[in-house]
Amino acid sequence: MKKILFVFTIVSLAFVSCGETKKEEVKKEVEAPAKEVAKEAPAESADDMVALGEKLFTDKTCVSCHQLDAKIVGPSVKDIVKIYEENNASLVEFLKGNQEAIVDTDAGQVAIMQANLDGFVKDLKEEELQALAAYMKSNK
Ligand code: HEC
Repeated sequence: MKKILFVFTIVSLAFVSCGETKKEEVKKEVEAPAKEVAKEAPAESADDMVALGEKLFTDKTCVSCHQLDAKIVGPSVKDIVKIYEENNASLVEFLKGNQEAIVDTDAGQVAIMQANLDGFVKDLKEEELQALAAYMKSNK
């Protein structure tokens, strides 16, 4: 009788652990294709992002206040990128309104840029913000 119980325990243990590996295998199979899709999705190449950002920088009027090398209404793109790199800050987060100004903190100047953020930058897509940031960073 003891022997039978022992065998039964072994068999049921084997059955339980088998069931678990099966479950894990199924889980892996479900997860794997999702990863592949993400890999295959046509990621915008870095060059495409910079080109899109350059277009947006003009179309969205950023260029009327930001020149590459010289301060006009707002700081130059080069100055902005330099300060962002030094502070390890994110241009996209600033454009999303999640981060305070760090380049020119004069209240009047900040208000001018804030009007853009509230006015139309908030309507830009994540990808467009990424593109603007990529373009700005390509000009350091
Ligand atoms: C009407 C003028 C004007 C326009 C248009 C404008 N900016 Fe600005 N921007 C400013 C001024 C002024 C500042 C300085 C205040 C400040 O640093 O926040 C500034 C600052 C910035 C900064 C630095 C923020 C910081 O941390 O200090 C970034 C980045 C920026 N602008 C990006 C953009 C982008 C991208 C666009 C277009 C989508 C744009 N700006 C359009 C006037 C403008």
